[in-house]
Amino acid sequence: MSDKAQETYNSTPPSHVGFIMDGNGRWAQKRGLARTAGHKEGLEVAKRIVKACADMGIKYVTLYTFSTENWKRAQEEVGYLMGLIRGHLRAEFQFYKDNGIKIEHIGDLSGLPKDVQNEIIKAKEDTAAFTGLTVVLAINYGGRDEIIRSVKKIIDSGIKSQNITEKLISDNFDVPELPDVDFLIRTGGEKRLSNFLLWHCAYAEFLFTDTLWPDYSTEELKNNINEFYKRTRRFGDVLNK
Ligand code: IPE
Ligand code: IPE
Ligand code: MG
Repeated sequence: MSDKAQETYNSTPPSHVGFIMDGNGRWAQKRGLARTAGHKEGLEVAKRIVKACADMGIKYVTLYTFSTENWKRAQEEVGYLMGLIRGHLRAEFQFYKDNGIKIEHIGDLSGLPKDVQNEIIKAKEDTAAFTGLTVVLAINYGGRDEIIRSVKKIIDSGIKSQNITEKLISDNFDVPELPDVDFLIRTGGEKRLSNFLLWHCAYAEFLFTDTLWPDYSTEELKNNINEFYKRTRRFGDVLNK
């Protein structure tokens, strides 16, 4: 490879890393445990990974926590997940404070149980002044749903079709300033997006690992980030013009 091409390698960490934290249920089932035990372990891993990302200077981390499709699961599992999210946000302010982490939420807040809504609102308020990493929790999130809700807001505001731009659509997303995903990491072996950040992943680099989320380590994260540095991003342009 020419020196010129090598210059196009990424030399800075990804600004925005998205995680599809998949494989909790299989991790638990392999151990003869209930699926919920996998979610509990998965939360501990999420905290470790978030901290490692903060230490690496990554600016935005989005965690796919609960999709608009996950309501199809058994009531017991859904209830457990909602309780886990609520309890985590209620108990872990110190974790976010110690690491200077700001919390944001994407997804349809109105479709969540009221007590979960309240904890999300409070966590956002309590961490709003923190200036380190921003952790975006995707809860009751679907990429299609976010686009539809943006379009509805635009139409309701009476904007004419000739004024529709990419910026206007993204300005009406849940976190308008959320940049495009640079690096998308999916654990659990499946090679699909499952309705995650469809718009923001237009030019993301993808990495799929078979590791189940509760087994995902900070060491593997570091290896994965090293892989990002080796990717050449062209954004439709050509190299060596
Ligand atoms: C991902 O793990 C976490 C959520 C969807 C909430 P899964 O629960 O999908 O685990 P698997 O894919 O069944 O192993
Ligand atoms: C994606 O995982 C959603 C989250 C990780 C929250 P799923 O387990 O729901 O995805 P599918 O159903 O295998 O596509
Ligand atoms: Mg899954």
